[in-house]
Amino acid sequence: MAYTNAEQKKLIDISKAFLVDPNRLNNGKIKEEIEVLKRVIVYHEWRYYVKNDPVLSDKEYDILFDLLKDAESEYPQLVTQDSPTQRVSVDIVEGAPTVRHLTSMLSLANSYNAEDLNDFDAQIRRLLKIPELEDVEYCVEPKYDGGTIVLVYENDQLARAATRGNGESGELITHNIKTMRSVPLSASFSKRNISRVELRGEALIRKDIFEEVNKMRAKNGEELFANPRNAATGGLRVKNPKDSERRRIQAFLYQIGFAADDNGNDLLSSFKTHDETIQMLADLGFKVPVVERKVCKNIAEAAQFCKYWEEQRDSYPYEIDGMVVKVNDLRLQRLAGSTAHHPRWAIAYKFKAKQATSKLIDVEYQIGKIGTITPVAKIEPVQLAGVTVTSISLHNEEFITSKDIRIGDTVLVERAGDVIPYIVKSITDIRDGTEQKIVFPSTCPSCDTALVKHEGEAAWRCENPKCEAQLIQRLVYHVSKEAMDIDGFGASYIERFHELGWINSLPDIYRLNYETIASLEGFGVKSANNLREAVEKAKMNPMHRFLASLSIHHLGKKASKLIASEISSVFDLIDWDEARYISIKDIGPTVAQNARRFFTDEENIQMLRDLESLGVNLEQTEEDRPRVVQSDSQLNGKTILFTGTLQQMGRKAAQQLAEANGAKNISAVSGNLDFLVAGEKAGSKLAKAKALGTVKIISEKEFLALID
Ligand code: IVH
Repeated sequence: MAYTNAEQKKLIDISKAFLVDPNRLNNGKIKEEIEVLKRVIVYHEWRYYVKNDPVLSDKEYDILFDLLKDAESEYPQLVTQDSPTQRVSVDIVEGAPTVRHLTSMLSLANSYNAEDLNDFDAQIRRLLKIPELEDVEYCVEPKYDGGTIVLVYENDQLARAATRGNGESGELITHNIKTMRSVPLSASFSKRNISRVELRGEALIRKDIFEEVNKMRAKNGEELFANPRNAATGGLRVKNPKDSERRRIQAFLYQIGFAADDNGNDLLSSFKTHDETIQMLADLGFKVPVVERKVCKNIAEAAQFCKYWEEQRDSYPYEIDGMVVKVNDLRLQRLAGSTAHHPRWAIAYKFKAKQATSKLIDVEYQIGKIGTITPVAKIEPVQLAGVTVTSISLHNEEFITSKDIRIGDTVLVERAGDVIPYIVKSITDIRDGTEQKIVFPSTCPSCDTALVKHEGEAAWRCENPKCEAQLIQRLVYHVSKEAMDIDGFGASYIERFHELGWINSLPDIYRLNYETIASLEGFGVKSANNLREAVEKAKMNPMHRFLASLSIHHLGKKASKLIASEISSVFDLIDWDEARYISIKDIGPTVAQNARRFFTDEENIQMLRDLESLGVNLEQTEEDRPRVVQSDSQLNGKTILFTGTLQQMGRKAAQQLAEANGAKNISAVSGNLDFLVAGEKAGSKLAKAKALGTVKIISEKEFLALID
């Protein structure tokens, strides 16, 4: 801990005193008071930038900071180099000079799985002659994916900062590092007798801050950064420290490269372990990995920790591309030594690549259910974060032209977390001239109708309502989970039945001959029966589901529900004009126009009649009935879950009642749950809610009383 609780309390008290009475500065000896104010500000910067847990509002911090600035301008002789006001020098640094590191900075050898780590461990044991039964302890921490920084403190002051450069010497970037409030301008190394120390770390931008920074740049019309790494490494080397500061870069420290006393005697060997050195840096106020750093008793535990963080990678606030496994004992580190390229006592465990290059072989054009044409790149298969990727959406024509993507190009592909893969860029400088420009089709690849693009839209569309490709997509959508949710009915059945000539329209879905289906290869009586049951069940869906299943452009689930609650039969819509649609809150003119067009088309009306005669429900159901939510209900805005057997009503009815009173039904017991209604024989959910202690547990009677 950089500050004891008592120290923190005192510093907070002093902060308050300054905020209440800024004149306090002139009460005592000005030199001492300024020193106190500086210490207070440094403390708040540590809370904010290192601990991510500020105790002052931004405004209060600004008041203290301005107070110091004013005092220093009045007494310029009292300005010290480590004053918080000295972080942003306004001078623009031209052509940064380079500086030699105190010790050279090597790279790390790579490993990719537990087996590689076992080999690494075996090699260490061989080298250090460690018996088989004895464990080697490792300290494991993230491998940060930012820009390397090397900091030198002399007599407790930040003397200079440099980039990694070629490992021997790097560019001086002290002016930019000083803008980073997670880097202390002074730190009491002297407590450990250290008068000169070289620290290594990584400059990073937190992922969410990166998004904000980019948003701000977009607003200012500035070019966007490709990723947090580029923004951070670029930010280290900008000429104007203000540009660096605006990127809100932070620094994590992960190694002491050199430490010596006044006489130049080595003091690094006064520490027993790597972990201890990092702990000392934390105590001095530096930002270091905490829960994401672990001393592991052997290589198996280290491998497990690496794997854990590989899974957590996307939820970690900073970009990391692996973990670093380091022999914890510094004496063993020294004994192991280094090769010309990397230390023998450390190894990087690289996460599966999120980015890879591949070749773009061809572009295909997909036709959506409302005729949107989406170009899709077919690429040579690549492994990305554990998944084989062979095709990637190119979104629209503009995406292709703005990135100048060509067939035959080598492309950089990225897949981050659950995000669908995308093409970052074409690597243009290795083109050999055989690449071909992508020519977007002018007619529909399925029905050859001329494509159109409406103003303000990015996509080209085929507007032929009879386009076969669109029809198939509409059928697929109709049966999907999103729409009528016909269990087991997917795209492959639709395509197969369409090819057999059995399904050419929505009503055909409800006219299938299940005996014939049972005789198809891959089917049987049982699966045909299952399909029939699923189709029969779907016929009884609430009307709003049916409305949403029609693929009317922009008429999605929400709009369908709103409309359904105002009609008693789908056929009512035949008489609706656009104004009637728009009179519903949250229904706009686009939906109104599209819906009106659909329900005035003779063929569509015939189709609805066919569906009705096939038994598909087109009438208002219980679920569609408009409900008045009582905003004064105690359930309004709360989450609720019913468990066990209810006496007065079925579970479904109870859920609808809760919803009508403004509550939201959820399906699991968690910290998000407000009310658990426990019926008879309630089991594990009740037990869990009791254990949580935050859930209000009520009986069915109490529930009914709540909604009166
Ligand atoms: S220790 C002798 N620890 O990875 C090298 N390096 O390939 C000692 N890096 O550019 C480096 N996170 O900046 C170490 N926790 C970590 C690291 C880390 C990122 C970078 C480092 C260097 C590269 C080495």
